[in-house]
Amino acid sequence: MARDNSLMDAIVALCKRRGFVFQSSEIYGGFSGLWDYGPLGVELKRNIKETWWRDMITTHDELDQPEGAPRRFQMVGIESSVIMHPRVWKTSGHYDLFHDEMVDCRETNKRYRYDHVKGRWVTHEGRRLFVTTVGGDDLQAALQERALRFFGLKNKYADKLEWDGEIVDLPTVRDHTEVLGPDAKELGSLTEPREFNLMFETHVGAMRNDDNKAFLRPETAQGMFVNFKNVVDSNRVKVPFGIAQQGKSFRNEITPRNFTFRSREFEQMEMEFFCHPEESFKWYTYWRDRRFKWYTDLGIDASKLILRDHEQDELSHYSVGTADVEYAFPFCEKGEFGELEGIAHRGDFDLRSHMEGKLVREGDELVVEKDAEGNPKYPGSGKDLTFFDDETKDRFVPHVIEPAAGADRTVLAFICNAYHEESITNEKGKEEMRVVMKFHPRIAPYKVGVFPLLKNKPELVAKAREVCNLLRPHMAVFYDEGGAIGRRYRRQDEAGTPYGVTIDFDTLGENGDESKDTITLRDRDTMEQKRVKISELATILHEKIDFKHWAQ
Ligand code: GAP
Repeated sequence: MARDNSLMDAIVALCKRRGFVFQSSEIYGGFSGLWDYGPLGVELKRNIKETWWRDMITTHDELDQPEGAPRRFQMVGIESSVIMHPRVWKTSGHYDLFHDEMVDCRETNKRYRYDHVKGRWVTHEGRRLFVTTVGGDDLQAALQERALRFFGLKNKYADKLEWDGEIVDLPTVRDHTEVLGPDAKELGSLTEPREFNLMFETHVGAMRNDDNKAFLRPETAQGMFVNFKNVVDSNRVKVPFGIAQQGKSFRNEITPRNFTFRSREFEQMEMEFFCHPEESFKWYTYWRDRRFKWYTDLGIDASKLILRDHEQDELSHYSVGTADVEYAFPFCEKGEFGELEGIAHRGDFDLRSHMEGKLVREGDELVVEKDAEGNPKYPGSGKDLTFFDDETKDRFVPHVIEPAAGADRTVLAFICNAYHEESITNEKGKEEMRVVMKFHPRIAPYKVGVFPLLKNKPELVAKAREVCNLLRPHMAVFYDEGGAIGRRYRRQDEAGTPYGVTIDFDTLGENGDESKDTITLRDRDTMEQKRVKISELATILHEKIDFKHWAQ
């Protein structure tokens, strides 16, 4: 699929119009890289997180093992604090290594991620320069406009520009003196690249100095590593087992972009799976496959989803193997995908670091990094984070497999995947375009809409309220009595509500006893309607919505 900006614009507009996602602090002009969820968005996100939690943790204990798992295993959850001891981030490597390279423009004071600036060499009347941009629908068109403006040429003289080579990344250009920055008027305004740590800083306590500096966590994962011993000691779990957590993480992204895809505050759903080193590759394969399937089971179009293994030079400092689950978002270029989740084989890096001190790679070995005096640069806790298997009498540092997903990216993928524009014959037999959000029933914000046919007939309204009360203990119900019934269906189509229940005169028994206490049940996707007894409605909806995994 090629980059589809009009589709993305339509999705962003729907998100605002229907209350899925709003810009943060919008009445003050918004705040870059930060987003709020509206009434529908918050239900969708909660359902996605709940589905993940149930599928990863609650429905898996050692008595109920998923098929294909190499051994029985337990899964438990935790919730750790957002601000942790600063030593956690020094030992984990985030303090030294968690950065992006950025360039500043001295002329405009703008800042760009070094690897996001793209450009092409162009010559006019013997003057050659590297003109740049940071994106847009059509990179070449954007570069041409910048070059024409620089040389003071009108559009009709575009053929006077001589282009050289392909569009390439700024990092391929060594000398910035011939570079025209993405928003600059003069050449040579971009600085050399500098490292920029992505962790947000804060201060704990009354003083504001380096001694009480702390960080907002950039990942939830460290909460699981530092609590490994607590969980083993308190819950009698045995390797292999997983500790999971959902929660906010913060990264001061230089260029947040693509709606909620790259935000500065976002939520993660991470799980650290501790296993015996000799079994670790089996578990890695198991989690790679299982996590990919999770998305397709919930209705993500498999033709838009890939599982991509990282190249050796892409691997994080801790990882000996990583695969990403990636989705073809409408804002991706043709053939490109955006990461939803990384499944990493982290080896024993994390537990060893928190025991011994920050580790660095020396050849094939991970060794403790030393300072100038030969002491550990960032010492670990010194606590014993090994695991003793009392059956095999084996003591070892467990290896870790980590499926790390972003809740907000997952929400965005489900929104993009659900969005459909369809031409239909409406309830009055007329042709019409409808927007319908085809969410899997498990994650849909509301499961059923209840509509009295007419709002000014008290008997219909009373019956509709009765049906709502019947269904509410089982599922999220939306009641709507305003406007023509067709308009109400369209509103619920846009909200992604999979079923609609209409209470009409048949329900009241006005057309004979046979249809008394029956309603019409409408299917969002097929738009088919059938008559169903009110007494059977909750059971029918339970079956259709497939509550068996989660409604307990
Ligand atoms: N503990 C490993 C870890 O944090 P990551 O690949 O940096 O790995 C995991 O992050 C997931 O968190 C990503 O796959 C993505 O879904 C989400 N994520 C990361 N940065 C994000 C951002 N700036 N905005 C939204 N989601 C983000």
